[in-house]
Amino acid sequence: MTSERTASAAARGRLGGPPPADLLDAAERMSREEVRDLQLRRLRWTLRHAYDNVELYRRKFDAAGVRPEDCRVLADLSRFPFTTKADLRETYPFGMFAVPMADVRRLHASSGTTGRPTVVGYTAADLSNWADLVARSIRAAGGRAGQSVHIGYGYGLFTGGLGAHYGAERAGCTVIPASGGMTALQVRIIQDFRPGIIMVTPSYLLTLLDEFERQDVDPRATSLEVGVLGAEPWTEEMRREIEERMDLHAVDIYGLSEVMGPGVAQECVETKDGLHVWEDHFLPEIVDPLTDDTLPDGAGGELVLTSLTKEALPVVRYRTRDLTRLLPGTARPGMRRVERITGRCDDMIILRGVNVFPTQVEEVVLRTPGVAPHFRIRLTRRGRMDHMTVLVEARPTAGPEQRESAAAAIARGVKDGVGISVEVAVVAPETLERSVGKLRRVEDERGA
Ligand code: DLL
Repeated sequence: MTSERTASAAARGRLGGPPPADLLDAAERMSREEVRDLQLRRLRWTLRHAYDNVELYRRKFDAAGVRPEDCRVLADLSRFPFTTKADLRETYPFGMFAVPMADVRRLHASSGTTGRPTVVGYTAADLSNWADLVARSIRAAGGRAGQSVHIGYGYGLFTGGLGAHYGAERAGCTVIPASGGMTALQVRIIQDFRPGIIMVTPSYLLTLLDEFERQDVDPRATSLEVGVLGAEPWTEEMRREIEERMDLHAVDIYGLSEVMGPGVAQECVETKDGLHVWEDHFLPEIVDPLTDDTLPDGAGGELVLTSLTKEALPVVRYRTRDLTRLLPGTARPGMRRVERITGRCDDMIILRGVNVFPTQVEEVVLRTPGVAPHFRIRLTRRGRMDHMTVLVEARPTAGPEQRESAAAAIARGVKDGVGISVEVAVVAPETLERSVGKLRRVEDERGA
């Protein structure tokens, strides 16, 4: 955050700082040793609970020749088998639940655009832990009891809306359950209800930002001080764009339905240096996505998460497909951080042998003058060659010359930074579809 930003926030008497010690949960004050002791106890419970109550775990542990009691130190976890989305699909809908259905208080599910949806369940205790962790995340982001929270994550089977909702209530905030869509009305509500916090995907916040401007409302003059943004990859360039245009703290929240939902890891507002994993409830590992080997802290690879307290759906070594690194804690020294997640194994585009993530294109687009932060990636096949086109919207103020030089600058930036040649089409303002939730950046028209 720039000092200019601090000055303007201070001038308006705004919050958005780190929670004082008495607002930290006991676990947030633990030393690394204390966290690890707690993790081992909870891990041993989880392995036993999973083995005794879920047939799939029993089968997989037996096949790997490991028993829950073989876990004596945290490092023993690497002897246990991974769990994948395919396991959840195979046991659809409730086959991986470790408690009787009568004890399951809520279900959520993934959209299931490809194949069967995956279904997740929560006991009363699971829901309470989830609310606690989202409340902790809101405080870490700079939110406080007594403020209002505008929730723009979708409500429904997606974990974003209800997860944020109950966490914000638990934090002692006033909840505005806006969900996604009806963007013009949301802008009105933000002006009239004056929330201090907004929880929404970064791409939908951009949609809201444009709507503010369309309604001639200065987005820097709203009551919003903190944005708790996640559910999709975004970049430092996007943070800068949002913070400058809205005069708020934009902080990152991470989670996934299979492991809980939002609130698995959260960026702290005072450091904005990646996301602390709430390690009292989740044990992170990094593995090489190709060899499956466990990698040391600091090495880049796929994030694997084990739940430590979950009753209804314990997950042992769940392969998230998300790529990151594990780093030592800063603002919460007892817990490790993950670096901002800039891509998933599944989102990686292989173009003429080069690996590309949409966030790499985002970095280039967002530092290019004359274009808006709205872009899509279109993949086509010409003859036997794969081809990438970046469609990006011009800023309304950009004339033909600036559009042309922006297109050239983006093509050059992608060539220099990523190593591939792309075509860039700068399209008229307001022509690309806007996000109302999770954004799909890539249109793959290459066929099977
Ligand atoms: O997206 C949960 C969530 C809701 C997180 C609201 C944050 C805020 P799923 O729909 O199961 O759950 O999608 C999970 O989204 O594996 C990542 O690939 C991606 N993702 C979530 N948060 C981030 C983030 C919710 N902060 C999948 N940065 C995950 C990058 C993220 N990717």
